[in-house]
Amino acid sequence: MPVQIGMATHSFADPTRLLSDCHRRIEMFLGALQSVAAIVETPLPEEARQSLQTALQYFREAAPRHTEDEEASLFPRMRQLQSSEIEMALQRLDALEEDHQRAAPLHALVDRLGRQCLQAGPLPAQEAGELRSALAELKKMYAQHIEVEDTLVFPAAAKWLSPAELGAVGQEMAKRRSVSGGLLTPQASADR
Ligand SMILES: [Fe+2]
Ligand SMILES: [Fe+2]
Repeated sequence: MPVQIGMATHSFADPTRLLSDCHRRIEMFLGALQSVAAIVETPLPEEARQSLQTALQYFREAAPRHTEDEEASLFPRMRQLQSSEIEMALQRLDALEEDHQRAAPLHALVDRLGRQCLQAGPLPAQEAGELRSALAELKKMYAQHIEVEDTLVFPAAAKWLSPAELGAVGQEMAKRRSVSGGLLTPQASADR
């Protein structure tokens, strides 16, 4: 199944919704990796090779920017609010950052084994098993992580950060992707 990158998405003027759009891509590309991992001990059909390549590239290049959006732009501004109204959301931020750290070596393993498969062909059973268990762990972690961000943290940020602060988050996200003025088109922003 070829991976479609383009999908409806929000603009940098609406940073918390744009961050949720990134979650949909994380889920989509994780699903693509799991589909490929299921058949990785046999020669991959061309479509599966392309899916693998695209998904690996996404997690290598675009996903780290999402983590930086949260850790460098959004979470610090939320922590400065010190409002009891968002205490529940603030209490979750440290654990979310720990999840990001926990995911990094799993992504590195997936990237290494995925590239090995692309370059050298079918994976031996042991490596295939390692790939599948790393992906299963990532899927489990992201399911809970994304739920907390989408339903608790991002709505709190959208409600309690000022328009100026939200604007600054959006500008920083755009800059991270080298887009001037945050005027990236919805279609183009889906790739980032
Ligand atoms: Fe996160
Ligand atoms: Fe996130």
